[in-house]
Order: sequence, then C-alpha cells, then structure tokens
Amino acid sequence: MIETIQTCDKIRDLVLKLRGQGQTVGLVPTMGALHDGHLSLVHQSLAQCDHTVVSIFVNPTQFGPSEDLAKYPRTLDRDLQLLEDASQLKHSSSNGDVRKPIAFVPANDEMYPAGYSTTVDPPSIAMPLEGEFRPGHFRGVATVVLKLFAAAPANVAFFGRKDFQQFKVIQRMTRDLNLGVELRACDTVREPDGLALSSRNRYLSPSDRTRALSLSKALSACEDLINKGIRDVDHLTQAMHRELANLDKIDYAVVVNSETLLPIDKIQGSVVALIAAHVGGTRLIDNRVFS
Ligand code: PAJ
Repeated sequence: MIETIQTCDKIRDLVLKLRGQGQTVGLVPTMGALHDGHLSLVHQSLAQCDHTVVSIFVNPTQFGPSEDLAKYPRTLDRDLQLLEDASQLKHSSSNGDVRKPIAFVPANDEMYPAGYSTTVDPPSIAMPLEGEFRPGHFRGVATVVLKLFAAAPANVAFFGRKDFQQFKVIQRMTRDLNLGVELRACDTVREPDGLALSSRNRYLSPSDRTRALSLSKALSACEDLINKGIRDVDHLTQAMHRELANLDKIDYAVVVNSETLLPIDKIQGSVVALIAAHVGGTRLIDNRVFS
C-alpha cells in the first residue's frame, strides 16, 4: 500500500525534507471518490515532479447547508488502491524506481481545529456564477486550499479545468497572497460520449445520465456557431438554453470573458462558455474555452 499520512505536521516535515534534498514535490488536492479525471492530475504530477502528494479531504466548509455533504461519496479504500495502481502502471524515475503518490488524508479536526475562526476572503472573481448560486462555497475552497498549501508546501499544485472558476479563484489567491506555489491547469477528462467525469455522476439514474449529456451538447452547439462566425453572445446563449431545455433547472449557461468572467455582448479575444444545471437531484457543471 502507498504511504498514508494523517497529520499536517507529518506531511509538512516530509515535504520540507524532500525539498531540502533538492527534490520537487507536486500536490494534487481532491475530495476523494477518485475517477479518471483526478487520476489524470495524479499522472501529470508523477510525470513532472519527483514526489506527488494527493490530498483526500471532503471539505465541509465548501458545502452549503442544503448541499450534499452528508451523502458525498467516501470511498477511501478504493481511492488508496487506485493511487497504488496509478503509481505502478506508468511512471518510473530515471534510476528505475517506481514513483508512488503519497496520500494525505487528514481528519476533520486536523484541518479545522476546534474553535477555528480564520478564513480566506476570496478574490472578487469568486463573486459571479458559482459565487451567486453557492454562497460561501469559494470561501471554503480558498480556505482549505490555502491550508493544504501550508500543510504540504509543494513546488507545484495541479487542478482541473473542469472547475474553471475554482482554478481562477485559486490562481488569484495564490498571486494576491504571494503563496509561491506554481499552479498547473489540466484538461477535463470526459466519458467517450462527452460527459465530463465527476464524483457526482454516480448519483445519476440511467435516464438522468442520458439527459446529463445535454451539458456537453450545449457546449458543442456553442462551438459550432462560433466556428460558423457567430459573434453575438445572446445568439450563443439561446442555442445553449435550447440544448439544456430537458434538464430540471439551469443555474446559468453563459459566455463570458475568460480572464474576468464578466459578461460580454460580442465575442472578442478569449471567452469561456460555462454551464451549471440540475439533472434530477444532481448539480453538474461543465465549460469550454474558445481562444
Ligand atoms: P474534487 O471535486 O475532488 O476535484 C479535485 C480536482 O480534480 C480538482 O482540481 C478538479 O478540477 C479536478 N477534476 C474533477 N473532475 C475532473 C475531470 N473530469 N477532468 C479533469 N480534472 C477533474 O475540486 C475539488 O475537489 C475541491 O474543491 C478541492 C480543490 C479539493 C478543495 O476542497
């Protein structure tokens, strides 16, 4: 089995020791229930860094009161086995040793000591979109990511583009607070039919699984129109909404400036189409960047 560490002091000592020996450390923060999207981040870290720390922590502070914290999937034994398999399959260092990830699996009171009251006020890019529909979510994300960076002071941290706004929030926080961690964004891994992998996909009934395809279809519809020369954002969002009409609730389906996430009328420069929608009881997000 791979090395599993449960305390911040132990993981910090280990990371600082490795870095003191001149070795590079990559950090892959996750909430577990690992799938091939998470594992692609792990593989990139294993390929690019001497050592890889994968944190598994279902962070309570990023869930709203009516969200799915209690039923969020927790599959630790399987996660550790997947990390063990990831290490053996693909990566070996120059001297022929197999590179294995190190799992950091803190308990709740390790990350949030009794009576904690310090949080990160997230950057303004956290305010629209997810910020509007999930108040407090990015305060929780920014706080836990800062704490993970402090516990495991890695050279590089890997995040998925699937959570586009989350990556922007972490990027701004890292710059604004001079955290000195290099961030790498990794492409979204999808099912063969286009559905973006997500720990929440396992909640979908077979018929909801079929309906969930509307998210990636809406993004493709947007892309087709852009490729045909359509620049009018209203036109694009109407086409996305038509594809999403069979879903239960659309939180947003927008095309915005990809740097600021602010609304635009006409496509110019790099833009991103972002969707959040509910299928049955499950909330899904997806996005596509057009540069
Ligand atoms: P979680 O949803 O477990 O995702 C962990 C990382 O995996 C994130 O960087 C996310 O963007 C990436 N990821 C998820 N699905 C992906 C996919 N289909 N393709 C590529 N990457 C994917 O995001 C979180 O956890 C939390 O908010 C966290 C950052 C760990 C803070 O608690």
